[in-house]
Formats: sequence, structure tokens, C-alpha cells
Amino acid sequence: MSEVAKIVLGDKTIELPVITGTENEKAIDISKLRDLTGYITMDRGYKNTGACESAITFLDGELGVLHYRGYSIESLAEHAGFLEVCFLLVFGELPTKAQLQKFEDDIRLYTLVNEEMKDIIDGFPASAHPMGVLSALTSALTAFNPKPVDVKSENDMYHAVCKTIGKFVVLCSWVYRTKVGFPLNYYDNSKGYVENFLRLMFAIPTQEYKINPVVVDALDKLLILHADHEQNCSTSTVRIVGSSHAGLFASISAGVSALWGPLHGGANQEVIEMLEAIRADGGDVDKYVLKAKDKDDPFRLMGFGHRVYKNFDPRAKIIKKAADEVLAALGVNDPILEIAKKLEKVALEDEYFKSRNLYPNVDFYSGIIYRALGIPTEMFTVMFALGRLPGWIAQWKEMRQGNEPIGRPRQIYVGKTDRAYIPLDKRK
Ligand code: CMC
Repeated sequence: MSEVAKIVLGDKTIELPVITGTENEKAIDISKLRDLTGYITMDRGYKNTGACESAITFLDGELGVLHYRGYSIESLAEHAGFLEVCFLLVFGELPTKAQLQKFEDDIRLYTLVNEEMKDIIDGFPASAHPMGVLSALTSALTAFNPKPVDVKSENDMYHAVCKTIGKFVVLCSWVYRTKVGFPLNYYDNSKGYVENFLRLMFAIPTQEYKINPVVVDALDKLLILHADHEQNCSTSTVRIVGSSHAGLFASISAGVSALWGPLHGGANQEVIEMLEAIRADGGDVDKYVLKAKDKDDPFRLMGFGHRVYKNFDPRAKIIKKAADEVLAALGVNDPILEIAKKLEKVALEDEYFKSRNLYPNVDFYSGIIYRALGIPTEMFTVMFALGRLPGWIAQWKEMRQGNEPIGRPRQIYVGKTDRAYIPLDKRK
């Protein structure tokens, strides 16, 4: 007999079905609860709420496990390339050699961005944060590609995916180039995706840009590690915006905005700023651990803690090792790496952090690598967005093709009740 959950409300007992996932995760299906009882559930921050069934990413926060489509993040980071992982996430299977070649070629078809987009970029002041500009530009793509994606057509969907991947990488670089006042670069269809990103960002007309394979490899790995993370804040945003049948670019643009926040992707910028501040303050990490524990102080250890991981974030483990390797290979000696390691050690031995299962997350060490690769701090969250793009697309595609209903949570109203209108001249 299939498992059921029972809820007792007064003299009524309601039976609710239990859903079991392929990794044996369990959920009580409450979709009929309100019809049966008049009650809804309350779960601030959705800490305990499943919004969908998904076949894309599995994570076990207690064990520190992360799989994309059944493949461990460790094996993908070691063996796969970023576009291969994009294909896997979006279409469900690792591509064959021919499929991957075609995918890369098809992405190249779309790497030219409409020149009028430059007028939009020019409208932003130099002080604009790159994430705000990226969100706006992604949304603006809708104006140049007004035909909605026919989600029932695999061909239409495939080309929408290629188009989004092809244009987004160019926009990420243009956001930066405008900020520093450099001429905007174009994708070179004879080169690979990651190499192109580096050229788009850093090549200048006055000198040859030499590609460093260490940088390409490190970036490839970082993008893979960020590629999806099931129903996090930005991905849920993409799904909920898309659930109203808003277009793919509009949904991704909303995801970029959600990612920007310091509790989410914006943490990678904040980590470096925090480590710099500790260094400028004499490197006393104990002082900052004390501040983070002080409930009267709003300061938090950025790059620590996670809604789902109650163990080491597996991505942080890989990134920590990569940070050592990349800095050594590039001959970079960054004093804040030492501060980061000291901070991690002190925090991991501290009762406050131990009892709350607060471990370093993906953002703790990623900024140190980005810095070594020459990526400016304000662009760190853009790097996260570039990596997360395939996850957002895959989740949007799954949601639309799964014909999910519009996302629309309920609430418990706690405001004033039925009041008589007071004419303006009678109000005090
Ligand atoms: N420093 C100090 N205390 C913390 C921290 C931290 N970084 N994170 C959580 N806590 C404490 C928090 O004060 C609370 O204590 P108490 O039980 O005494 O009230 C307890 O730990 C549980 O925290 P929470 O805020 O209820 O947990 P949450 O699941 O709502 O928040 C989080 C998760 C990631 C937003 C939070 O840990 C945080 O703000 N971390 C710092 C920002 C950060 O690094 N974000 C990146 C997340 S990973 C990448 C991504 O998904 O984008």
C-alpha cells in the first residue's frame, strides 16, 4: 500500500498522499488540503516546501552530495567541459561527440548581438552595478526577439536555448567593457566558449591577447560548479516568472536580479570585500568571528552557511583545492587566501558555527580564483550568472514543457478588517 500522511483537525482526520523521489526523498502532497479542510500551510522562506518535481539536479544537504542528471559534481568538474554540462542539464543526457559539436556550432549562430543594444548600455551611468545592467540587457533581448518560444516544438526550444547561451556570454562581457570604457568585442566563432569569454572581456585592439590554458581550465571548472543548484532563490524566481508564460529572456532577467542579492550569488563579491576589510584591519580573524556571533551586530560571515547544506558544500571543497592549484600555476600570492583559510579554521572549530552546521559555501573561495584570473570584484556575481545560465534554462524548459500551473502562493492575512471609508476632509 502506498504511504499516506494523516492530519487530525478537530474531529476530522485527513489522509494526504506521500510522493517519493528517485533518491527516496519524501513529500506530503498538500495540494488538496485547502479544499478538504479550509486550511493552508505556512512556511516562511519556503524552508520546507517543495514547489515541483524535477529530474535535473539532486542534492543531499546532510551528506554534501550534488548531482546533475545523476552525475556527481566531482566527476563532471574533473572530466567534462562547460558546454557539455549545459547540454546535459538542458537536454537530460551527456551529448555524443557529434551532438556536442553541433551544439557548439549552433550556439555560434547566435553570438552576434543587435547593435542597438549598445544604445541601451550607453544609457547606464558608469556607477551602475554590472548585475543591474545585465538584468536589464537580458530583458531587452526580448525586444529584439519578440517571437515567443513554441515550447511544444523541440526545434524551437533547442534554438531558443542556443540563442540565450550565445548572446548572454557577450552581454556579460559588454557590461564590463562599458564600465571600464573599452571598445566592445565580438565573439570569435573559430574559438571555444570559455576562451571567447576571456577574449570578449580582456582583449584590447592595441595588443595581442594571449590565452593562458590554466585560466581557461579554471574558468571552465568554476562555470560547471555553478551550473545548477535545484530550487534556489534565483532558479525559483525563473520558474515562477516563467510560470505566467513570460518569455525565456524575461524569466532569465528576473533570475539575474534574484542572484544579485548578497544572501545569494552576491555573496561572492561580499566575501572578497570582507576578507579585504579583515586584512586592512590587521588580519584579526577572531574579531570577525566574534562579530558574526554577536546577535546585536548585523555582520555575518559571508560565504558561510547554506539553506540546504548542513555539511561541507561539495562545490566549496573543489573550489578550495582549485584555488591552491590556480594560484600556484599563475604564480599569484594572494594574502587574502591565507586570511580565508585562517577564518575557515577558526569558524569550523567554533561552537556557534558547529552547532548551526555553518560551513563554507561555494562563494567562499570562488572570488579568490576570480581575482587570480583577473576578473574584477564587481563582476564576480556576473560570473556566477554566466555559470548558472544553463540551470535557469533547464529549469524553465522543464517547467514549461511539464505544463506546470502558474506559481501563486497563498497567505494568511493579518491586516485590518472591514473598515468604513472616511472621506478625505473628515480624516485626522
Ligand atoms: N554568519 C553568522 N551566522 C550565520 C550565518 C553566517 N554566515 N549564516 C547563518 N547564521 C546563523 C543565523 O544567524 C541563525 O542563527 P540562530 O539560529 O541563532 O538565529 C542560524 O545560523 C540559521 O541561519 P538562517 O539565516 O536562519 O539560515 P537560512 O537558511 O535562512 O540562510 C544563508 C542561509 C545562506 C542565507 C545564510 O547562511 C547566510 O546569510 N550566509 C551568508 C551569505 C552567503 O554566504 N550566501 C551564499 C549562499 S551559497 C550560494 C548561493 O546559493 O547563492
